[in-house]
Amino acid sequence: MKNNLTFIDGFLYFTQAQVEKKKQNLIQHSVKVAEFPSVKTLSEFDFDFQESINKQQIYDFNSLRFIDKKENIVFYGNSGVGKTHLAISIGVTAAQNRKSTYFIKCARLIEILKKAQLEGRLEERLKKFCGYKLLIIDELGYLPITKEESKLFFQLIDRRYEKHSTIITTNINFSQWDDVFGDPLIASAIVERLLHHLHVAKITGNSYRLKDFFQKADE
Ligand SMILES: Nc1ncnc2c1ncn2[C@@H]1O[C@H](COP(=O)(O)OP(=O)(O)OP(=O)(O)O)[C@@H](O)[C@H]1O
Ligand SMILES: [Mg+2]
Repeated sequence: MKNNLTFIDGFLYFTQAQVEKKKQNLIQHSVKVAEFPSVKTLSEFDFDFQESINKQQIYDFNSLRFIDKKENIVFYGNSGVGKTHLAISIGVTAAQNRKSTYFIKCARLIEILKKAQLEGRLEERLKKFCGYKLLIIDELGYLPITKEESKLFFQLIDRRYEKHSTIITTNINFSQWDDVFGDPLIASAIVERLLHHLHVAKITGNSYRLKDFFQKADE
């Protein structure tokens, strides 16, 4: 079939292949710059294992409408229930659809902001973190955050508020965020901004990490 192509057909075929290759390279690049710790997808997620999850809601997140509406998502639940997996899966879809996406653990984010403040580059850093259409902040509340650090975190959330979407994964209930942020006023200012346009996906099941362990114990 290819041998019968006219010169023009061949040229078009080549050009289309080049365009497609370029598109695929751009997609790959967008996923790479998002710095996911590993690439996860929804198709790899076993929804039968985690019955508390509303599959429809997760696929709705994956449609990326929440990004267009500048809404936020919090995945809340105990260790190993799939919060990071789901956040990454949605992030990968966003990156593949050329929505600038960045994944970072909360502790690392705060470390970077603190360093930038010390070096007089806080504004520059905040601008960078606020530019992403989707910022995924993983493991909020796993490590204590001082009052000064909370102020930096607040500045980030405040700047992203109603401009761009943020996904947060946490094992901390909103009622305990006062303790995490070490200052109730700052905590409530942060929570208010997040809550305004927020979807909460609460996961109450067992840890997937311990699945095999318990399966073996039962045998
Ligand atoms: N329902 C599931 N189907 C398939 N794999 C899953 C499922 N839930 C979790 N996993 C896998 O189990 C591991 C732990 O999941 P994940 O990292 O998402 O947990 P987490 O809720 O973020 O836990 P933590 O609070 O400790 O960070 C990952 O390798 C993830 O891909
Ligand atoms: Mg996690």
